[in-house]
Amino acid sequence: MQANSLSFVSAKVQIDLDERSYPILIGTALLSNPLLYQDLPKAATALVVSNTSVAPLYAKQLSEALHAYYSKVLLVILPDGEIHKDWPTLQLIFDALLENGCDRKTVLYALGGGVVGDMTGFAAASYMRGVPFVQVPTTLLAQVDSSVGGKTAINHPLGKNMIGAFYQPQLVVCDLDVLQTLPDRELSAGLAEIIKYGPIADMGFFDWLENNLDALLDKEPAALAHAIRRSCEIKAWVVGQDERETGLRAILNFGHTFGHAIESGLGYGKWLHGEGVGCGMVMAAHLSQRLGRVDMAFVERLTTLIQRAGLPVKGPALSAADNAGCYLKLMRVDKKSEAGEIRFVVIDGPGKATVCPASNVMVREVIDSCCA
Ligand code: NAD
Ligand code: GLY
Repeated sequence: MQANSLSFVSAKVQIDLDERSYPILIGTALLSNPLLYQDLPKAATALVVSNTSVAPLYAKQLSEALHAYYSKVLLVILPDGEIHKDWPTLQLIFDALLENGCDRKTVLYALGGGVVGDMTGFAAASYMRGVPFVQVPTTLLAQVDSSVGGKTAINHPLGKNMIGAFYQPQLVVCDLDVLQTLPDRELSAGLAEIIKYGPIADMGFFDWLENNLDALLDKEPAALAHAIRRSCEIKAWVVGQDERETGLRAILNFGHTFGHAIESGLGYGKWLHGEGVGCGMVMAAHLSQRLGRVDMAFVERLTTLIQRAGLPVKGPALSAADNAGCYLKLMRVDKKSEAGEIRFVVIDGPGKATVCPASNVMVREVIDSCCA
C-alpha cells in the first residue's frame, strides 16, 4: 500500500484466527496515514492510550490521522514504566472511558511499548465486556512480540503478567520511523525477543541475525524491517496454531521463566523485560545442554549473539543466603507451572523447542553457574 509519497507498507503479515484474524502492517510513516485505519469498525470515539514519554513524541500525529474517522479522539496519558503496569494505572483508562461517556463501539489505540500495549489490551478486553482495539507499538520489543497474539495483562507483586486476558487487536501498525527515538538499551531489549525466534523455530534467521546484528544496532531501516517481518511471521505461525497456549505457544516463552524471576525478584523496572529474557535464554540454553538436548557449542553461539546485542548474560544475585532457592521460589509462580512443578522451555536441538520439567538439583546447578 502506498498512501502518499512518504507512507509505505513494506510488509503485511496476517494473523489467521478465523473471525479474530488481523493484519500486522510494517513500514514507514504509517502512524500518520489515515488510510490505514479506514477499514476498522465505525465508531464515534477513539481513545488513544499512551504514556508520558511516548505521547509527546507521537500522540499528535496519530490523533490527527484518526480525526478522519472519529468525531472525538481522546487521549489518556499513563505514567511510564513497568512499575506502573498495575491496577491503579489500569484504572486511569477506565476513568477516561467512563468520564467521557464512551460507548461499547469506542476503539482503543495503544500507542507505546509493551507496557502500554498489554494494559490497553486488558482494558479493551474488559471495558463493557469488550471493545475493539488497535496496537500501535513504538518499541522494537512491542513490534516483534507483545503487540501480536492477543496476550494482555498487568503484573501482581507476586508474579509477572499474572492478571490478564487473551484478547486480539483488530490491527497492528509497526511504523519503523518511531524506532529512531528509541534509547539503545530499549533497542537491545527488543533484540532479545528477536533472537529468541532463531533457536525455537528458525536457525536460518539466527544465521541472518549473526550477520546483520550491527545493522540492527545501527537502526538501519531495511534490517529492522526484515527482522520485524520474520519475527512476526514466526509468531503468527505459532499463535495461528495455539492462540490460548494449550501447548505449542509456550515455546515463545523461551528464556522467560528465568527472566520473569529476575524481573520480579529485583523489583519490576530494575532490569528491562528484554534483558531478563536475554539472560534467561542463556540460562535456559545451559539447562538444555545439561538435559542433553544441545551441545556446548550451541550454548556459546547463542550467548555470544545475546552479548553482542548489548544484553546481560550473567544473572543477578537475588539472595545472598540462597540465591538458587530464591530463583526457584519465584519461578514456581510461572504460568507454565503445573501442581507446583516448574516447566521450562528448552531447546530440543537448534531451531526446535519443547517444554519439560527439570530436577531442582539440575536447575540449581544452572543458576549457580550462570549468576554473577
Ligand atoms: P515499555 O513499554 O516499558 O517501553 C520501554 C521504554 O521505552 C518506556 O520508557 C517507553 O516509554 C519508551 N518508549 C517507547 N517507545 C518509544 C519510542 N519510540 N521512542 C522513545 N522511547 C520510547 O517496554 P517494552 O520493552 O516495549 O515492553 C515490555 C513489556 O511487554 C513487559 O511488561 C512485558 O511483560 C510485555 N510483553 C508482553 C508480551 C505479550 O505477548 N503480550 C510479549 C513480550 C513482552
Ligand atoms: N510473548 C509470548 C507469547 O506471546 O506467547
